[in-house]
Amino acid sequence: MKIAVAGATGAVGQQMIMCLEERLPDAEVKALASLRSAGKVLEFKKKYVVEELTEHSFDDVDYVLGATENPITAQWAPLAVKAGAVVIDNSSLYRLDEDVPLVIPEINPEDIRTHHGIISNPNCATIIALVAVNALHRRWHVERMIVSTYQAVSGAGLQGIRDLENQIKDPSIPSVAFPHPIAYNLIPQIGGFDAEGYSSEERKMQNEGRKIWHHEKLLVNCTCVRVPTMRSHCESITLQFRDRPDLEEARELLKKAEGVVYADAPSEHLYPTPLMTSDQDLVYVGRLREDISDPLKHSLVLFCSGDQIRKGAATNTVQILERLLAEK
Ligand SMILES: NC(=O)c1ccc[n+]([C@@H]2O[C@H](COP(=O)([O-])OP(=O)(O)OC[C@H]3O[C@@H](n4cnc5c(N)ncnc54)[C@H](OP(=O)(O)O)[C@@H]3O)[C@@H](O)[C@H]2O)c1
Repeated sequence: MKIAVAGATGAVGQQMIMCLEERLPDAEVKALASLRSAGKVLEFKKKYVVEELTEHSFDDVDYVLGATENPITAQWAPLAVKAGAVVIDNSSLYRLDEDVPLVIPEINPEDIRTHHGIISNPNCATIIALVAVNALHRRWHVERMIVSTYQAVSGAGLQGIRDLENQIKDPSIPSVAFPHPIAYNLIPQIGGFDAEGYSSEERKMQNEGRKIWHHEKLLVNCTCVRVPTMRSHCESITLQFRDRPDLEEARELLKKAEGVVYADAPSEHLYPTPLMTSDQDLVYVGRLREDISDPLKHSLVLFCSGDQIRKGAATNTVQILERLLAEK
């Protein structure tokens, strides 16, 4: 089995290679990136010489894991499909296309079967939120989510990490990945804004959540904020359910939920934090409580954190690949 990683030198691409080494160690992996990186050696458990991504890169490849920005993906993904490879893509380019499944393996693995050559990996903040709350949704049915995110700089790729590292040493160095300094700061903007004042990142959770849960009426009000942490996005989430939830049962559901660690003992200072969850594949959930502002008592509040380069991108992609291989 030969797997190409497109964008192998980036934050997600490098993590994909590490995840493949961990989970599918026998796979032959081809590292593709721009001409700038051709010949560069990536070293993890094994060494990989980076090749320039060209129209011939996919001739001998079974699967392509995509980790490039939308305009670059638009150039290579159709070529990969034409060459007979299956693409699992991390950009947002195809996520809402009708014939492209959008998959979180813990939630909608059956959707993988409907692919026509491309499967999309959801937005990282969406994956972390939906894994965190899926067991509660299955029990009481989420009608509305109010979300505030605290998103790490690595969500903006390697340049986001460089900006924070530079500015910690010298705050006068300007940001390249962000519209403001990020060290000793936070920025309530991720992506461009639309006419209603929402950023592109804020729209993703509602649009993608509806598709993943097959829940057309899901309502999401999201505020996305970039914060000066290196990796692992955190989210404060208020869930309004159709049915009245029970707090004690919610705790028990979260203890058993797939992909979740229930870390919730606030009096002992136990709740999810970015450092606790970095470089892990599980989403941590804590601070679970009733929403005291809801007189109908149909709402719960929680805080979650998950490594968005791993579970929000690379791990989720490799899990999709594992499901594809299992069904072959
Ligand atoms: N970072 C996250 O947490 C995260 C989470 C979920 C989804 N995503 C999505 O995943 C994708 C990758 O994000 P990232 O954070 O890994 O970005 P990144 O660190 O900036 O990496 C970008 C990658 O794209 C490659 N690339 C650029 N131009 C290219 C070209 N012309 N041909 C081939 N490769 C080219 C780069 O190669 P060079 O080194 O040669 O320039 C690099 O490997 C994006 O669509 C992003 O939205 C990111």
